[in-house]
Amino acid sequence: GQKTLAVNDAISIIIDDTQGLGRRFEGIGALSGGGATSKLLVNYEKKLRDQILDYLFKPNFGASLQILKVEIGGDVQSTDGSEASHMHNSWDENYSRGYEWWIMKEAKQRNPDIKLYGLPWGFPGWLGQGTFSPYTNPEVTADYVIRWIHGAKTVHNLTIDYVGIWNEYKYNITYIKTLRKMLDLRGFEKTMVIGTDAYWGVIPDLIKDKSLADAIYAVGSHYPGTNSPLDAQKLGKPLWASEDYSTFNDEIGGGCWARLLNQNYVNGLLTATLSWNLIGSYYDHLPYFSSGLMTAAQPWSGHYNVSTPIWVSAHTTQFVSIGWKYFMHGSGVGKLPRGGSYVSLTNKAKNQLTIVIETMTHNHSKCVRPPLPPYEVSPQNITIVLKGSFTSISRLNVWYSKLGFDGAEDQMFQRKEPLEFENGQATVSLGLDEIFTLTTITSGNKGSYPKPPEPKPFPLPYSDNFEGHHVSEDPYNLTPQAGCFEIVKSQDASHGLVVRQTVLNAPIESCPWSLTFPIAIIGNYNWTDIAVEVDFEIPTVNGTKGVFVAARVDRGSCPTRSAQGIFFSVFPKTDKFVVSNDLAQTMILKQGHLEIDISTGWHKLSVTISGGKASGHIDSKKIFTVDMPRKPQNGWAAIGTDGFGYADFDNLRITNP
Ligand code: GAL
Repeated sequence: GQKTLAVNDAISIIIDDTQGLGRRFEGIGALSGGGATSKLLVNYEKKLRDQILDYLFKPNFGASLQILKVEIGGDVQSTDGSEASHMHNSWDENYSRGYEWWIMKEAKQRNPDIKLYGLPWGFPGWLGQGTFSPYTNPEVTADYVIRWIHGAKTVHNLTIDYVGIWNEYKYNITYIKTLRKMLDLRGFEKTMVIGTDAYWGVIPDLIKDKSLADAIYAVGSHYPGTNSPLDAQKLGKPLWASEDYSTFNDEIGGGCWARLLNQNYVNGLLTATLSWNLIGSYYDHLPYFSSGLMTAAQPWSGHYNVSTPIWVSAHTTQFVSIGWKYFMHGSGVGKLPRGGSYVSLTNKAKNQLTIVIETMTHNHSKCVRPPLPPYEVSPQNITIVLKGSFTSISRLNVWYSKLGFDGAEDQMFQRKEPLEFENGQATVSLGLDEIFTLTTITSGNKGSYPKPPEPKPFPLPYSDNFEGHHVSEDPYNLTPQAGCFEIVKSQDASHGLVVRQTVLNAPIESCPWSLTFPIAIIGNYNWTDIAVEVDFEIPTVNGTKGVFVAARVDRGSCPTRSAQGIFFSVFPKTDKFVVSNDLAQTMILKQGHLEIDISTGWHKLSVTISGGKASGHIDSKKIFTVDMPRKPQNGWAAIGTDGFGYADFDNLRITNP
């Protein structure tokens, strides 16, 4: 609604560069990974996928992101799945795995100026040399990370601008210094180290240790709640919210993001803010569903949502570039008298000015963490007084959003009539949950595509012989939760391309407990009665001891370890089978001998849940029937291995029984 305040109630804010400027703006960005958050995007029909990527990356279209941070896959579960390492073993090196290379190239194609940032969530086990720490031999780990940066350059022509340490985990001073030194030695002097992608724990060490401070370009903290400690501000280094947001992307999510993008600087002098995550392309019922800037989790239907944070981002990214400067507090940056905040930025050489104002109310802008202390916002008239270099401006372009609550429609990123200035002054009426961008920049644009297709449940019957993939790719739709599943050429030519579990040793994890059963889930969490079959072969060299097929798998992410469902595992070398109600095989429903020789070659493994019974077959031989346990009542389909080691899978087929 429109405000009825009289103009003479107006409160002035002064935009003035006479006393100098504040810190350098370093960009608004987002994370793909940490983990597997872009997993389902790859499999969208190209036309729709390109639309989604345009909303994220294309300049003057949508979010127009300035930084893309990706996971350096480490074969570990890192929130919504596990991402492949470029070196599963010391003797293995491959720069075609996963989807992060692809997404970085798509981003760069749309915006060559976008900055790239890589960060590991965990590491393959061999780096620990038996210790489960990546810091046992710092040179080896630095070499591993630099190989990824080198692979990015030589294989994909991607320049990595920033590299981190270990997401929300321990840092190690020797490692950080070693990484910096080795980057320089290998010709990556321009790749900056961000320390340490945890909270502010590294600050005391940075104060004490000058050479550590020299190794780090910026301090990256997570979920800082728009604040930073005073001693961090005094370091003289850029401070970044190198991971933030993580909030369901409805109107409140948009409100959270709008408040962060302004107040991270207003309160915390944070000059870059990165959203976890970039795009919610993972199954519903995995943690933090739909907590990206937008959501695209249905490659089978093509449905996607352009969510509020896309347009909230545009309010800054389309009108401010990396390298612009913030104004100083009190003369262009601050809190508004009746709640809300404003930031002003300039590219002084070109005499450009952008002011972003937000009036997010408390309950409409809560983020997932940390807790937000109470505050009040009420409508207000603000007179903007331009001084210094900008006194003579006669008009500013206006972009406006209002997040819709209580049945009101969202009004997102709308171009309004320019604001006319008289003697350097103009008044704006601010309501609640609004964003205004006032700017000299003329190129703002709200991009749009035709409405995407309607949502649909995961299709049945479903089958995949994996021939539509490229070697080394992650299989479409199958989402690894532990271990790594990738497309390889079968030794048996008649099988063509198959999916192999490729992790041979337990990785250095980011989950608080170990996931010792590689597993990839697929389908619909709401499936109840279902039949799942898959062909498998266990390679003779480095083969795993067993493989399983499962239905009604009820959880992913770190808790995958305690996942329940119906798991039918076979152990070809010992001629055994186990039917269990859980992945870890602590709840055994039936076990015994197979009494068929499946120790070599390809065999079909299947499990069917129907009419209160679960049954399983090997090839055409029925192995078991059991009464369905009470739980779980629904869940995904899955395939996997018993322990680490190679196993090949082909011809996955899921049907209504
Ligand atoms: C972060 C973590 C991300 C993701 C996020 C969910 O702490 O780095 O990978 O798990 O939390 O809020």
